[in-house]
Amino acid sequence: SFDDSTETLKVLSLQAEQFRNSFVKEDFGRGFHWGTATAAYQIEGATTTHGRGASIWDSFVKRPGKIKNAHHAEQACEHYYRYEEDLEFVPALGFGAYRFSISWSRLLPEGTGKVNQEGVDFYHRIIDKCLSLGIVPWITLYHWDLPQALQDKGGWKNRDIIAWFADYADLCTREYGHKVKNWLILNEPMAVAALGYTTGQHAPGLKGLHNFLPVVHHLALCQAEGGRVVRHNVPDAFVGTTFSCSAVEPHTSSARDIRAAGRIDALMNRLFIEPSLGLGYPVDAFPFLKKIKKYLHPGDEEKLRFDFDFVGLQNYFRIVVKHSLWRPVLWAEEVKVNAPRTAMGWEIAPEGMYDILKQFGKYEGIKEIIVSENGAAFPDEIQDGAVYDPQRRDFFRDYLQNLLKAKREGVRVNGYFVWSLLDNFEWAEGYDPRFGLVHVDYATQKRTVKHSGEWFANLLRN
Ligand code: NOJ
Repeated sequence: SFDDSTETLKVLSLQAEQFRNSFVKEDFGRGFHWGTATAAYQIEGATTTHGRGASIWDSFVKRPGKIKNAHHAEQACEHYYRYEEDLEFVPALGFGAYRFSISWSRLLPEGTGKVNQEGVDFYHRIIDKCLSLGIVPWITLYHWDLPQALQDKGGWKNRDIIAWFADYADLCTREYGHKVKNWLILNEPMAVAALGYTTGQHAPGLKGLHNFLPVVHHLALCQAEGGRVVRHNVPDAFVGTTFSCSAVEPHTSSARDIRAAGRIDALMNRLFIEPSLGLGYPVDAFPFLKKIKKYLHPGDEEKLRFDFDFVGLQNYFRIVVKHSLWRPVLWAEEVKVNAPRTAMGWEIAPEGMYDILKQFGKYEGIKEIIVSENGAAFPDEIQDGAVYDPQRRDFFRDYLQNLLKAKREGVRVNGYFVWSLLDNFEWAEGYDPRFGLVHVDYATQKRTVKHSGEWFANLLRN
């Protein structure tokens, strides 16, 4: 039939494309984790359903001018109701792992104290569905949606958050630890400190440099404390945490540009990993960070340490930096070099993946690296019921090629998660940037696998 022959053509052309890849799945090794990633607030919707409490993002999206097009996430992808259909895409696209996050305020509407059983049950359903599909679940404990009730007490500025977070992590691991072995503590703490509490572009929308250092320190303490809770409750856990990271290059070889790049590198790539390894904060490259001492209590150096089983690296772009007189404290600014970019304006720089993996590969204390996010937004369109996104396909191919190069040179990288399974709510950017392997039509909630999704299915098929 006509349908069969177009199907055959599609398969043949996808197979032909695989010849253009210079790698096959097996090159990455047998134990390599292939997955897709999502986050609760970006996909679930149902923000007031079944006893869920408000998070800082529910408040933030209501503030005029904060989110592009005044988008919000009350429905998002309606994943709360459509999770079965959604999870079925994971194995259909060839992936064996699924990374998702738990909404803290769905479990604990007030942040601490009374447990909301319907919220607890929802993640049991997610996990059980994964297991029934043969998918390995990876849970992120904190992906930016702090309960509003805790923000009312100062949020990440309040040192009490260590105890609040430990109790929440304890609840999650006691509940799900017998079914889930893979745990990630924090998602991109730098984004929380910088965008959430310093520039105000993300929830809770606080501005001011004075917030930055206390928030960094409390995040770094929680990162380690969360690790200890998981280790205690799930003895056979594989526990890690994630960092946003980007290769930073000086604009010229002048000493000033090199030092400027060193400061940005300290912020973007070293600030959270080094204290966890017992190396302290990277004050050598960025003396301003010495001021964090003010927030340290006796014994904190030890509390910052945790021996993670892996670190999750999230890489999208590289940045070029020059010395600047106009940016106090940093004395550095980004140079927007002429280069191909995604719909986020991020430079497509596959070699940056290689560079950052090599950089992290040098830390002896890191046992294993998992690329816990990588992906790209492009302006996708449905045409004749399909989404043809060759730019995204090439993006994945080239970044994976660079991952493989680093692996072949001995970097202990053993997993790769695509951001994201579905198009979703891209925070302050709203729904315009589409990162999914599966297209979502927000008017109808119809899902359509993109060409890049089929490319993965073909790469990863057994
Ligand atoms: C970082 C975040 O973890 C995720 O929530 C976000 O959507 C992607 N990167 C893309 O910006």
